[in-house]
Amino acid sequence: MRRSITTRLVAMFAVATLATFCVIGVVLYCVLDRELIRHQNDDLNTNLQNVGYTIQRFTDSVDHWSRLTTKLDAISPADGSMRFWVLSDDPRFQYGKGLDEMERVNQGDAGYGLLTLPLSHRTYRTRSMRIGPLLERPAVRLIVGEDMAPFEHTMRAFVAALTLLLLGAVGLVMALGWWIARIGLRPLERLSVEARALTPNTLSQRLQLERLPVELEDVTVAFNGALGRLEAAWQQLEGFNADVAHELRTPLANLIGGTQVALSRPRSAVEFQETLQSNLEELERLRSIVNDMLFLARADQGEAATGLTACEVAHEVGVTIEFFEPLLDETGTTVAIEGELAARATMNIALFRRALSNLLQNAIEHSSAGARLVVTITQRAGAIWIAVANPGAPIAPPHLPRLFDRFYRVDSARHDSGDVHGHGLGLAIVKAVASMHGGGTLATSDAGVTTIAFSVAGG
Ligand SMILES: Nc1ncnc2c1ncn2[C@@H]1O[C@H](COP(=O)(O)OP(=O)(O)OP(=O)(O)O)[C@@H](O)[C@H]1O
Ligand SMILES: [Mg+2]
Repeated sequence: MRRSITTRLVAMFAVATLATFCVIGVVLYCVLDRELIRHQNDDLNTNLQNVGYTIQRFTDSVDHWSRLTTKLDAISPADGSMRFWVLSDDPRFQYGKGLDEMERVNQGDAGYGLLTLPLSHRTYRTRSMRIGPLLERPAVRLIVGEDMAPFEHTMRAFVAALTLLLLGAVGLVMALGWWIARIGLRPLERLSVEARALTPNTLSQRLQLERLPVELEDVTVAFNGALGRLEAAWQQLEGFNADVAHELRTPLANLIGGTQVALSRPRSAVEFQETLQSNLEELERLRSIVNDMLFLARADQGEAATGLTACEVAHEVGVTIEFFEPLLDETGTTVAIEGELAARATMNIALFRRALSNLLQNAIEHSSAGARLVVTITQRAGAIWIAVANPGAPIAPPHLPRLFDRFYRVDSARHDSGDVHGHGLGLAIVKAVASMHGGGTLATSDAGVTTIAFSVAGG
């Protein structure tokens, strides 16, 4: 389920507030509870000491006892918040209501206890002491009790206030949290507005980093990076379309021109035959461009080479060179095969020959008559590299990485001057064949030798 950041932040704020208030509340409750009990105990002690002292010193007879009970009646508050009881074996020296029950509590000499009166259901915190005999009076036990009701009432009021405060605080923090989250997320909204405004025509635009908080920097930089790659791909595609159109225009213009000339006046059968022949050549050129483009499109879609055969690479190189024999003889060019002649690879042999043919064709084209070409086979990191080297004018370094681009030619003037050879797809096909075999390409041009290589996975 998709959750909104605002909701999540508000929930987190609420939980944090709840936790904080609970901790503070529990601590305050404990402190208050302890202080109130201490206060009660002080009260109980003071009364116990005062009354205990009087009993101990001045109640040696029944007469003095009755004076004491009068005094106890007088200091016992009418609301029953403070009570006194005296227990003794002699009924004449007893005081207080519900004495039978008293027997059961406060057994210790100086213990604190809790006592609930059965009739009124009032609970008392009690403190008791034992007082030794004096003349007529036997030993007695004095119990002082303080009503718990005010204490409990205070604690209940405190808890109620705390709960109200807690609910109020959580509500307030949630509202504030929502507001803060909305403000905090505003840069994101701005970002999405900017991103929404991007179209293929505005691909060169980038999202503005300066106006964004640092937290959004990473995502913005990543997004801008993606935009940069998109822009490059888009430009390449546009350039590619222009190249395709340009490439098809020349053969089409030749076809139309030739046909128009042929039709401009009555012609003999032989003349028409010549025109058709030249048209056929142009049409074949068109077909070869279209076929190459289709092949590259399939390779682009990640199609891997099929029909793989394990073979000896040097043997396949030799067979491919044989196809060039007539051309080599004509130019007096020689080709040597060097390197690891025993290397084996698993590959589609037809594709391999096509790639190597393109390299050989380029090498023959770009070297002068009588040159010595070298095909080197090397095995490196599980891949077999096939490099074709030829002597010739060096290629300037900026061109090297672009040689394998479609329709890329170092000397584009050559093409525009009407050269029928080369539409700049040869090396693009080499690259496609290499990638269909999980390999790569490399081009170097140094000390008068140009070397173009591709690799296929070994095996
Ligand atoms: N051996 C080489 N020496 C010097 N330049 C080369 C060599 N091989 C390729 N190039 C340069 O790289 C460019 C691209 O080569 P590529 O084979 O792709 O196209 P092409 O030979 O022009 O046309 P195609 O191969 O499609 O007939 C060539 O136009 C040429 O400028
Ligand atoms: Mg070529």
